[in-house]
Amino acid sequence: MLSEQFISELKGRNDIEDVIGSYVNVKRRGRNLVGLCPFHSEKTPSFTVYPDSQSFYCFGCGAGGDVVTFVRRMENLDYIEAVKLLAQRAGLAMPEDGYDDSFAKLKTRILEINRETARFYHQSLVSPAGKKGLDYLRERGLSDSTIRHFGLGYAPESWDAAIKHLLGKGFRVDELVAATIAVKSSRGSYYDQFRGRVIFPIIDIRGNVIAFGGRIMDGKGPKYLNSPDTPVFKKSRNLFALNFAKSAKEPALILAEGYMDVVALHQAGFTNAVATLGTSLTAEQARMISQYAGEVVIAYDADGAGQKATNRAINMFGEIGLKVRVLKVKDAKDPDEFIKKFGATRFRLLLEGAGSAMEFEIGKLRQKYDLETSDGKVGFLKEFAQFMAGIRNPIERDVYVAKIAAELDVSKEPLSVQIQYIIRQQAKNAEKKQSRDLTVFAAGAKERRDPQRTAHLKEALAEERLIGILLKNPDYHRTILERIQPEDFLTDFNREIFRVICQRLQEGRPVELIALSEQLDEVQMGKVAGILADAASTRATQKEAADYIDTILAGKAKKSPEELRQMDREQLGEYVAGLAAKKKP
Ligand code: GTP
Ligand code: MN
Repeated sequence: MLSEQFISELKGRNDIEDVIGSYVNVKRRGRNLVGLCPFHSEKTPSFTVYPDSQSFYCFGCGAGGDVVTFVRRMENLDYIEAVKLLAQRAGLAMPEDGYDDSFAKLKTRILEINRETARFYHQSLVSPAGKKGLDYLRERGLSDSTIRHFGLGYAPESWDAAIKHLLGKGFRVDELVAATIAVKSSRGSYYDQFRGRVIFPIIDIRGNVIAFGGRIMDGKGPKYLNSPDTPVFKKSRNLFALNFAKSAKEPALILAEGYMDVVALHQAGFTNAVATLGTSLTAEQARMISQYAGEVVIAYDADGAGQKATNRAINMFGEIGLKVRVLKVKDAKDPDEFIKKFGATRFRLLLEGAGSAMEFEIGKLRQKYDLETSDGKVGFLKEFAQFMAGIRNPIERDVYVAKIAAELDVSKEPLSVQIQYIIRQQAKNAEKKQSRDLTVFAAGAKERRDPQRTAHLKEALAEERLIGILLKNPDYHRTILERIQPEDFLTDFNREIFRVICQRLQEGRPVELIALSEQLDEVQMGKVAGILADAASTRATQKEAADYIDTILAGKAKKSPEELRQMDREQLGEYVAGLAAKKKP
């Protein structure tokens, strides 16, 4: 365990405002700061930083905690790694030992395994046994130097070629399972995750091999197989080829759908291309892209699925304010095929001609209506006004309104008036929604599904408020504990938080957020931050605490209908007698 002295020093030197400010755009609002939540995608800011309690909380998704929790979530680190990063940031030396680094060690091991596995697959590809894979990649137009550059490989058609190789290098089979290179069968034997596939290693921006994608060449099975998430890999937080694209000297990144598109693009000189890893774009990936480029060009497949994904991506980038252009591949199904058919120069023309996201959207709208007819025009203009109302920048709005008005030969003014009207309505609705959201939050409807909480909502709220009072006034803990123990709590979730806090107080240890984050996980920290945010506006008196304790104890004494049904006659009799006795003063 780290010493309290170290933790408090760490906190003192990592002001939450500064740390969060280096990742998220937050604006001051009263004592606090607000911004768009980096952990879920949203249009109106519900992410709040509380400098007073050095905490953050998002009313939209429930993420919350102290500066360590924030860094953990943001950088996908475990507790000790986050502490290390913050120590480094503040120029503090980490205490020598005294903390559990087994998880960090496992991660290092997995990275070593991945590196060796990538080497093994690549060697297999260029060995006689890998001829099938090499022929396949060459057939798809990849040069030997591209294959080497990406470290492409071949997983032999064998049950355990990779496992054997890695065991021979001194890795243990349980480590191979953790790396998901080996899979344990129901019979207890182990087999290779990737068999008979060409392999695309996935490399992070630090140059670590963190996972693999494997494409089947023939036979049955999914076309692509990706490594499952591991301690070193989260699909939703990585992008294929970002390790190369991050240093491309282009103002934009190109976002394609598939591995093959990206490899083909790089080979053709477009080294600023990246792809998601077999999933649709996540908010985290969108944010990463915005970190490396001032603009993104979406170059998805030409089919319906690709167009749908384009819409989604436009919205995600729109929410974080990144400029978007949309590239349309013509006469080919995807960028890879396009380049193969028409060459790099033609692709560059497509790239240069890629329209803004706005043009893409307006183009789609136009296709829905027959603009030769008056009805068609009216329908289109109505929907166009609705769409324009969603554009924040008034100059941009004006440009497109003028353009469309001219093209459709209608006057611009009524169109602008209509748009202004919709904007005012939307603002009103948004305000209503926000206050509704806060109420809903208070009622706990946004909580992760916790059946106990739903079944005992009144008591669960009392538990949470009691925790809030305790955190605001740690001195109360003796009086509180005289009346109520963690065992008396009705929800396991709050009980555990209460238990940790009480235990620390009894040992005379601090219960500030930063101290708690050592013992509570991210979900628990989120809850505590939410409780604190709620408690900020209450007086948190002893009297209130006593009332909440009454509520919890009364709830505990009451049995649920389910429990009553399970009692036999005698137990039921006792229970009812007990209730009657309690009613008497
Ligand atoms: P090629 O046929 O090799 O050109 O593939 P592609 O890159 O054109 O892929 P496609 O457009 O079919 O799919 C785009 C991306 O979705 C792929 O690169 C994969 O990341 C992912 N993907 C495709 N098929 C599967 C699948 O069967 N399973 C999973 N998990 N991901 C897939
Ligand atoms: Mn393809």
